[in-house]
Amino acid sequence: MTILITGATGLIGTALTKHLLDQGHVIHFLTTRKEKIIKEKDHKGFYWNPTSGEIDVLAFEAVDCIINLVGATIAKRWTPAYKKIILESRTKTAALIHASLKKIDHRVKHFVCASGISIYPNAINTIYTETSTEVASNFLAQVVVAWEAAADQFTALGISVVKIRTGVVFDAKEGAFPKLAQPIKMGVPSAVGSGSQWISWIHRDDIVAIYAFAAINGLTGVYNAVAPAPIQNIALTTLVAGAYKVPMWAPNVPAFVLKLLLGEMAILVLEGQKVSVSKFEKKGFNFSYPTIESALVNLTKK
Ligand SMILES: NC(=O)c1ccc[n+]([C@@H]2O[C@H](COP(=O)([O-])OP(=O)(O)OC[C@H]3O[C@@H](n4cnc5c(N)ncnc54)[C@H](OP(=O)(O)O)[C@@H]3O)[C@@H](O)[C@H]2O)c1
Repeated sequence: MTILITGATGLIGTALTKHLLDQGHVIHFLTTRKEKIIKEKDHKGFYWNPTSGEIDVLAFEAVDCIINLVGATIAKRWTPAYKKIILESRTKTAALIHASLKKIDHRVKHFVCASGISIYPNAINTIYTETSTEVASNFLAQVVVAWEAAADQFTALGISVVKIRTGVVFDAKEGAFPKLAQPIKMGVPSAVGSGSQWISWIHRDDIVAIYAFAAINGLTGVYNAVAPAPIQNIALTTLVAGAYKVPMWAPNVPAFVLKLLLGEMAILVLEGQKVSVSKFEKKGFNFSYPTIESALVNLTKK
Protein backbone atom coordinates (compact mmCIF):
# COMPACT_ATOMS: atom_id res chain seq x y z
CA MET A 1 0.00 0.00 0.00
CA THR A 2 0.97 3.63 -0.31
CA ILE A 3 0.30 5.29 3.03
CA LEU A 4 0.40 9.02 3.79
CA ILE A 5 1.31 9.83 7.40
CA THR A 6 0.87 13.21 9.06
CA GLY A 7 2.85 13.83 12.25
CA ALA A 8 5.31 11.26 10.86
CA THR A 9 8.28 12.96 12.51
CA GLY A 10 6.90 12.51 16.05
CA LEU A 11 7.18 9.82 18.73
CA ILE A 12 4.67 7.42 17.18
CA GLY A 13 5.13 8.52 13.57
CA THR A 14 8.89 7.94 13.40
CA ALA A 15 8.60 4.37 14.64
CA LEU A 16 5.44 3.71 12.59
CA THR A 17 7.18 4.88 9.41
CA LYS A 18 10.06 2.48 10.00
CA HIS A 19 7.64 -0.38 10.83
CA LEU A 20 5.60 0.14 7.63
CA LEU A 21 8.67 0.61 5.43
CA ASP A 22 10.08 -2.65 6.84
CA GLN A 23 6.78 -4.33 5.83
CA GLY A 24 7.27 -3.13 2.25
CA HIS A 25 4.78 -0.25 2.14
CA VAL A 26 5.46 3.05 0.39
CA ILE A 27 5.34 5.98 2.80
CA HIS A 28 4.54 9.59 2.03
CA PHE A 29 4.47 12.14 4.83
CA LEU A 30 3.42 15.74 5.35
CA THR A 31 5.65 17.92 7.50
CA THR A 32 5.75 21.55 8.56
CA ARG A 33 9.56 21.36 8.66
CA LYS A 34 11.15 21.67 5.22
CA GLU A 35 14.46 20.33 6.58
CA LYS A 36 12.74 17.01 7.36
CA ILE A 37 11.73 16.41 3.74
CA ILE A 38 13.42 13.45 2.08
CA LYS A 39 12.84 12.07 -1.40
CA GLU A 40 13.55 8.38 -1.60
CA LYS A 41 11.83 5.87 -3.84
CA ASP A 42 9.63 4.39 -1.10
CA HIS A 43 9.76 7.24 1.40
CA LYS A 44 8.86 10.78 0.41
CA GLY A 45 8.21 13.94 2.40
CA PHE A 46 5.97 16.84 1.37
CA TYR A 47 5.58 20.30 2.86
CA TRP A 48 2.44 21.72 4.40
CA ASN A 49 1.62 24.74 6.48
CA PRO A 50 -1.84 24.12 7.95
CA THR A 51 -1.94 27.62 9.46
CA SER A 52 -1.70 29.32 6.06
CA GLY A 53 -3.53 26.53 4.23
CA GLU A 54 -0.51 25.61 2.09
CA ILE A 55 -0.14 21.95 1.12
CA ASP A 56 1.76 20.01 -1.54
CA VAL A 57 -1.01 17.87 -3.06
CA LEU A 58 1.56 15.58 -4.69
CA ALA A 59 1.60 14.00 -1.22
CA PHE A 60 -1.71 12.28 -2.12
CA GLU A 61 -0.45 10.69 -5.34
CA ALA A 62 -1.28 6.93 -5.39
CA VAL A 63 -2.14 7.03 -1.66
CA ASP A 64 -4.55 4.32 -0.43
CA CYS A 65 -4.65 5.20 3.24
CA ILE A 66 -3.92 8.24 5.42
CA ILE A 67 -2.69 7.82 9.00
CA ASN A 68 -3.33 11.14 10.71
CA LEU A 69 -1.06 11.62 13.71
CA VAL A 70 -0.57 15.38 13.52
CA GLY A 71 -1.11 17.39 16.69
CA ALA A 72 0.75 19.90 18.85
CA THR A 73 1.96 18.36 22.11
CA ILE A 74 -0.35 18.66 25.11
CA ALA A 75 2.67 18.55 27.45
CA LYS A 76 3.25 22.29 27.27
CA ARG A 77 1.58 24.96 29.42
CA TRP A 78 -2.03 25.47 28.38
CA THR A 79 -2.18 29.23 27.88
CA PRO A 80 -5.25 30.42 25.94
CA ALA A 81 -3.05 30.91 22.85
CA TYR A 82 -1.48 27.46 23.16
CA LYS A 83 -4.88 25.81 23.71
CA LYS A 84 -5.90 27.21 20.31
CA ILE A 85 -2.80 25.60 18.78
CA ILE A 86 -3.57 22.24 20.46
CA LEU A 87 -7.08 22.29 19.01
CA GLU A 88 -6.41 23.71 15.55
CA SER A 89 -3.35 21.52 14.91
CA ARG A 90 -5.88 18.67 14.98
CA THR A 91 -9.01 20.20 13.43
CA LYS A 92 -7.60 22.64 10.85
CA THR A 93 -5.12 20.02 9.62
CA ALA A 94 -7.88 17.47 9.04
CA ALA A 95 -9.97 20.15 7.32
CA LEU A 96 -7.05 21.03 5.03
CA ILE A 97 -6.59 17.39 4.00
CA HIS A 98 -10.35 17.08 3.47
CA ALA A 99 -10.53 20.23 1.33
CA SER A 100 -7.51 19.06 -0.71
CA LEU A 101 -9.02 15.62 -1.41
CA LYS A 102 -12.26 17.26 -2.55
CA LYS A 103 -10.33 19.16 -5.22
CA ILE A 104 -8.19 16.40 -6.71
CA ASP A 105 -8.47 12.94 -8.21
CA HIS A 106 -7.25 10.50 -5.61
CA ARG A 107 -7.65 6.89 -4.52
CA VAL A 108 -7.68 7.32 -0.72
CA LYS A 109 -10.05 4.73 0.76
CA HIS A 110 -9.22 4.81 4.46
CA PHE A 111 -8.51 7.48 7.10
CA VAL A 112 -6.89 6.28 10.34
CA CYS A 113 -7.01 9.09 12.88
CA ALA A 114 -5.29 9.46 16.22
CA SER A 115 -7.59 10.32 19.09
CA GLY A 116 -7.32 10.22 22.86
CA ILE A 117 -8.72 8.32 25.84
CA SER A 118 -8.95 11.72 27.54
CA ILE A 119 -12.46 11.91 26.07
CA TYR A 120 -13.53 9.70 29.04
CA PRO A 121 -14.10 11.28 32.46
CA ASN A 122 -11.72 10.80 35.36
CA ALA A 123 -12.95 7.78 37.36
CA ILE A 124 -11.62 5.09 39.69
CA ASN A 125 -14.33 2.44 39.44
CA THR A 126 -15.46 2.66 35.81
CA ILE A 127 -13.99 0.66 32.94
CA TYR A 128 -14.47 2.56 29.69
CA THR A 129 -15.20 0.74 26.45
CA GLU A 130 -15.85 2.18 22.99
CA THR A 131 -19.59 2.09 23.72
CA SER A 132 -19.23 4.31 26.80
CA THR A 133 -21.01 7.59 26.15
CA GLU A 134 -19.63 9.64 29.05
CA VAL A 135 -17.54 12.62 27.95
CA ALA A 136 -15.31 14.51 30.39
CA SER A 137 -16.11 18.17 30.95
CA ASN A 138 -12.65 19.58 30.40
CA PHE A 139 -10.53 21.10 27.63
CA LEU A 140 -8.91 17.84 26.52
CA ALA A 141 -12.24 16.10 26.04
CA GLN A 142 -13.48 19.08 23.99
CA VAL A 143 -10.39 18.68 21.80
CA VAL A 144 -11.05 14.96 21.31
CA VAL A 145 -14.70 15.54 20.40
CA ALA A 146 -13.73 18.16 17.79
CA TRP A 147 -10.85 15.99 16.51
CA GLU A 148 -13.10 12.94 16.01
CA ALA A 149 -15.79 15.11 14.37
CA ALA A 150 -13.15 16.41 11.92
CA ALA A 151 -12.15 12.80 11.16
CA ASP A 152 -15.77 11.78 10.62
CA GLN A 153 -16.07 14.37 7.83
CA PHE A 154 -14.07 12.03 5.58
CA THR A 155 -16.95 9.56 5.36
CA ALA A 156 -18.79 12.14 3.21
CA LEU A 157 -15.97 11.68 0.66
CA GLY A 158 -16.57 7.92 0.58
CA ILE A 159 -13.51 7.28 2.78
CA SER A 160 -13.85 4.90 5.72
CA VAL A 161 -12.70 6.25 9.08
CA VAL A 162 -11.22 4.69 12.20
CA LYS A 163 -10.43 6.68 15.35
CA ILE A 164 -7.73 5.26 17.59
CA ARG A 165 -8.29 6.49 21.17
CA THR A 166 -4.66 6.30 22.21
CA GLY A 167 -3.57 5.88 25.82
CA VAL A 168 -0.39 7.26 27.41
CA VAL A 169 2.44 6.06 25.18
CA PHE A 170 5.43 4.70 27.11
CA ASP A 171 8.79 4.92 25.38
CA ALA A 172 12.22 4.71 27.02
CA LYS A 173 13.48 8.02 25.64
CA GLU A 174 10.53 10.31 24.81
CA GLY A 175 7.11 11.28 26.12
CA ALA A 176 5.52 10.50 29.48
CA PHE A 177 7.73 7.65 30.74
CA PRO A 178 11.10 9.45 31.04
CA LYS A 179 9.31 12.35 32.81
CA LEU A 180 7.76 9.93 35.28
CA ALA A 181 10.98 7.95 35.77
CA GLN A 182 13.34 10.91 36.18
CA PRO A 183 12.61 11.85 39.84
CA ILE A 184 12.51 8.14 40.75
CA LYS A 185 15.96 7.59 39.19
CA MET A 186 17.15 10.58 41.24
CA GLY A 187 15.98 8.78 44.41
CA VAL A 188 12.60 10.50 44.93
CA PRO A 189 9.82 7.98 44.22
CA SER A 190 6.67 10.03 44.83
CA ALA A 191 3.21 9.10 43.64
CA VAL A 192 1.11 12.11 42.70
CA GLY A 193 -2.14 13.33 44.21
CA SER A 194 -4.14 10.47 45.73
CA GLY A 195 -2.05 7.95 43.76
CA SER A 196 -5.23 6.05 42.91
CA GLN A 197 -5.73 7.60 39.45
CA TRP A 198 -5.56 5.09 36.59
CA ILE A 199 -2.91 5.20 33.90
CA SER A 200 -4.05 3.43 30.75
CA TRP A 201 -0.62 3.21 29.16
CA ILE A 202 0.66 1.46 26.04
CA HIS A 203 4.20 0.61 24.96
CA ARG A 204 5.43 2.51 21.90
CA ASP A 205 6.01 -0.70 19.93
CA ASP A 206 2.41 -1.81 20.56
CA ILE A 207 0.83 1.51 19.56
CA VAL A 208 2.88 1.42 16.36
CA ALA A 209 1.67 -2.12 15.65
CA ILE A 210 -1.92 -1.03 16.41
CA TYR A 211 -1.86 1.83 13.88
CA ALA A 212 -0.38 -0.51 11.27
CA PHE A 213 -3.00 -3.19 12.12
CA ALA A 214 -5.85 -0.65 11.80
CA ALA A 215 -4.54 0.59 8.45
CA ILE A 216 -3.79 -2.79 6.90
CA ASN A 217 -7.01 -4.43 8.10
CA GLY A 218 -9.20 -1.47 7.12
CA LEU A 219 -10.78 -1.12 10.58
CA THR A 220 -13.57 1.42 10.99
CA GLY A 221 -15.28 3.08 13.94
CA VAL A 222 -13.76 3.79 17.36
CA TYR A 223 -11.06 1.67 19.03
CA ASN A 224 -9.37 2.16 22.38
CA ALA A 225 -5.61 1.63 22.15
CA VAL A 226 -4.11 0.86 25.55
CA ALA A 227 -2.33 -2.11 27.08
CA PRO A 228 -4.67 -4.76 28.54
CA ALA A 229 -3.49 -3.98 32.08
CA PRO A 230 -3.93 -0.33 33.15
CA ILE A 231 -2.24 0.53 36.44
CA GLN A 232 -2.84 3.02 39.24
CA ASN A 233 -0.31 5.78 39.82
CA ILE A 234 0.97 4.52 43.19
CA ALA A 235 1.41 0.96 41.90
CA LEU A 236 3.29 2.20 38.84
CA THR A 237 5.53 4.43 40.98
CA THR A 238 6.32 1.46 43.22
CA LEU A 239 7.15 -0.82 40.26
CA VAL A 240 9.35 1.79 38.54
CA ALA A 241 11.14 2.43 41.85
CA GLY A 242 11.67 -1.32 42.18
CA ALA A 243 13.07 -1.52 38.65
CA TYR A 244 15.64 1.18 39.54
CA LYS A 245 16.20 -0.38 43.01
CA VAL A 246 15.05 2.81 44.77
CA PRO A 247 13.24 2.24 48.11
CA MET A 248 9.75 3.77 48.40
CA TRP A 249 10.05 6.45 51.06
CA ALA A 250 8.78 9.77 49.68
CA PRO A 251 5.25 11.09 50.38
CA ASN A 252 2.84 11.68 47.50
CA VAL A 253 3.15 15.08 45.78
CA PRO A 254 -0.02 16.88 46.93
CA ALA A 255 -2.56 17.75 44.24
CA PHE A 256 -2.57 21.47 45.15
CA VAL A 257 1.19 21.71 44.51
CA LEU A 258 0.76 20.24 41.03
CA LYS A 259 -2.18 22.53 40.33
CA LEU A 260 -0.04 25.52 41.35
CA LEU A 261 2.88 24.35 39.23
CA LEU A 262 1.02 23.13 36.15
CA GLY A 263 -2.29 25.02 36.21
CA GLU A 264 -5.14 23.42 34.26
CA MET A 265 -2.84 20.80 32.71
CA ALA A 266 -2.35 19.21 36.16
CA ILE A 267 -5.24 16.92 35.14
CA LEU A 268 -2.70 15.10 32.96
CA VAL A 269 -1.12 13.64 36.12
CA LEU A 270 -3.89 13.94 38.71
CA GLU A 271 -6.69 12.34 36.71
CA GLY A 272 -6.99 9.16 34.71
CA GLN A 273 -9.25 6.59 33.14
CA LYS A 274 -9.32 2.79 33.24
CA VAL A 275 -9.81 1.84 29.60
CA SER A 276 -10.62 -1.53 28.03
CA VAL A 277 -8.85 -2.73 24.88
CA SER A 278 -10.93 -5.89 24.45
CA LYS A 279 -12.33 -4.65 21.09
CA PHE A 280 -8.81 -4.74 19.59
CA GLU A 281 -8.04 -8.06 21.29
CA LYS A 282 -11.19 -9.58 19.79
CA LYS A 283 -9.91 -8.50 16.36
CA GLY A 284 -6.86 -10.70 16.97
CA PHE A 285 -4.32 -8.06 17.96
CA ASN A 286 -1.51 -9.45 20.10
CA PHE A 287 0.48 -7.24 22.46
CA SER A 288 4.26 -7.45 22.74
CA TYR A 289 4.00 -5.73 26.15
CA PRO A 290 0.65 -6.72 27.71
CA THR A 291 1.69 -6.01 31.31
CA ILE A 292 3.56 -3.16 32.92
CA GLU A 293 6.12 -5.64 34.27
CA SER A 294 6.98 -6.78 30.72
CA ALA A 295 7.12 -3.17 29.50
CA LEU A 296 9.34 -2.03 32.36
CA VAL A 297 11.98 -4.64 31.53
CA ASN A 298 12.28 -2.92 28.16
CA LEU A 299 11.76 0.70 29.29
CA THR A 300 14.28 0.62 32.15
CA LYS A 301 17.07 -1.37 30.50
CA LYS A 302 20.37 0.50 30.29
N1 LIG B 1 2.25 10.17 22.77
C1 LIG B 1 1.16 9.96 23.51
O1 LIG B 1 1.25 9.55 24.71
C2 LIG B 1 -0.21 10.16 22.91
C3 LIG B 1 -1.34 9.81 23.67
C4 LIG B 1 -2.61 10.03 23.12
C5 LIG B 1 -2.74 10.58 21.86
N2 LIG B 1 -1.61 10.90 21.15
C6 LIG B 1 -1.79 11.53 19.84
O2 LIG B 1 -1.16 10.78 18.84
C7 LIG B 1 -0.60 11.67 17.85
C8 LIG B 1 0.87 11.35 17.68
O3 LIG B 1 1.48 11.46 18.96
P1 LIG B 1 3.06 11.67 19.13
O4 LIG B 1 3.35 11.52 20.58
O5 LIG B 1 3.78 10.87 18.13
O6 LIG B 1 3.15 13.25 18.76
P2 LIG B 1 4.46 14.15 18.65
O7 LIG B 1 5.70 13.39 18.94
O8 LIG B 1 4.20 15.37 19.49
O9 LIG B 1 4.47 14.54 17.10
C9 LIG B 1 3.38 15.15 16.47
C10 LIG B 1 3.79 15.70 15.11
O10 LIG B 1 2.77 16.63 14.72
C11 LIG B 1 3.35 17.72 14.00
N3 LIG B 1 2.94 18.99 14.63
C12 LIG B 1 3.15 19.37 15.90
N4 LIG B 1 2.60 20.57 16.12
C13 LIG B 1 2.04 20.95 14.96
C14 LIG B 1 1.32 22.11 14.55
N5 LIG B 1 1.06 23.11 15.39
N6 LIG B 1 0.88 22.16 13.26
C15 LIG B 1 1.13 21.15 12.40
N7 LIG B 1 1.83 20.05 12.73
C16 LIG B 1 2.26 19.95 14.00
C17 LIG B 1 4.85 17.57 14.05
O11 LIG B 1 5.28 17.13 12.74
P3 LIG B 1 6.22 18.05 11.78
O12 LIG B 1 7.16 18.78 12.70
O13 LIG B 1 6.87 17.06 10.88
O14 LIG B 1 5.28 18.97 11.06
C18 LIG B 1 5.09 16.47 15.10
O15 LIG B 1 6.17 15.65 14.77
C19 LIG B 1 -0.84 13.10 18.34
O16 LIG B 1 -1.97 13.61 17.68
C20 LIG B 1 -1.13 12.90 19.81
O17 LIG B 1 -1.99 13.88 20.36
C21 LIG B 1 -0.35 10.71 21.64
